[in-house]
Amino acid sequence: MTKKNTTLGEFIIENQGSFQYSSGELSKLINAIRLAAKVVNHEVNKAGLIDIIGAAGDTNIQGEDQQKLDVLANDRFIQTLKNREIVCGIASEEEDDFISINSNDNQHQNKYVVLIDPLDGSSNIDVNVSVGTIFSIYRRVTPLGTPVTLEDFLQSGDQQVAAGYVVYGTSTMLVYTTGDGVNGFTLNPAIGTFYLSHPNMQFPETGKIYSVNEGNYVHFPQGVKDYIKYCQKEEGDRPYTSRYIGSLVSDFHRNMIKGGIYMYPKSSMASEGKLRLLYECNPMAFIAEQANGRASNGKQRIMELKPTELHQRVPFFCGSRKMVEKAEEFMK
Ligand code: AHG
Ligand code: MN
Ligand code: MN
Repeated sequence: MTKKNTTLGEFIIENQGSFQYSSGELSKLINAIRLAAKVVNHEVNKAGLIDIIGAAGDTNIQGEDQQKLDVLANDRFIQTLKNREIVCGIASEEEDDFISINSNDNQHQNKYVVLIDPLDGSSNIDVNVSVGTIFSIYRRVTPLGTPVTLEDFLQSGDQQVAAGYVVYGTSTMLVYTTGDGVNGFTLNPAIGTFYLSHPNMQFPETGKIYSVNEGNYVHFPQGVKDYIKYCQKEEGDRPYTSRYIGSLVSDFHRNMIKGGIYMYPKSSMASEGKLRLLYECNPMAFIAEQANGRASNGKQRIMELKPTELHQRVPFFCGSRKMVEKAEEFMK
């Protein structure tokens, strides 16, 4: 049992052996993410100070305005991973296509691909509300020594070897899993070190919080409307309380600690909802299941869906197991 004041660096070394394909490569990769998280944290913290707020004047592939900090976080993560030559490919919510990584002395010899949402909750940056980063790691399926292909990225969530998020909140935390439970580390900004603060995180089986953008209520499918009415009904332990930050990472993090359900359903305006299967839903689903929670598209487990495209969207219901199961009953 790891002691609570262990640093993330020590934790990665101590737990390297528990990972089934352990070769040190995954540890190096998580170390690189740890470093990138500190760099982005530094940028996020400066957001109010220098002129990095506001639209970069560009749009990403999904036609959304990119914030300058989106671009910065994207660049920092990609650069950190590229420089350390520890992944063979990266896909990012902010890039049109995946990036194949290769160097002269390491011809496509790395095993892992990384998928990232470099800055989640970007509409919250310029109002000083928590944002995050989400990452997901897979082993490539194409042979070593060859360039990565789309196939390496379009794997079902069940194939993930690690996933995590960083929440840049009142404190900065890195939370991740390698398939052996979920652990949370809090950054001590004075010395730039993450410490294990939340060992073995677990969703309470049920909770009292529901998180959904209720402004879209009239556009939701009937089952979702009925479930929301159920959450509001005075009966048993209800009504539940409504909490919606608008940063998936922050809403998820709170619900994992307190017990709750996060929902981004499809609607008459967005036939597959808004969240991206590969950059947001799969990694959060892996963490949720590792923490005794559940993640579904309303009908089936998120992680068993077979992705068909890089920027695919999917309806998302995630959180305390009993709450997600109840929501699914309403959507049958
Ligand atoms: P991103 O900033 O990476 O585009 O993600 C924003 C996502 C998610 O974090 C959040 O829960 C959701 O969009 C909020 O969407 P609405 O404003 O439509 O509720
Ligand atoms: Mn996001
Ligand atoms: Mn984003």
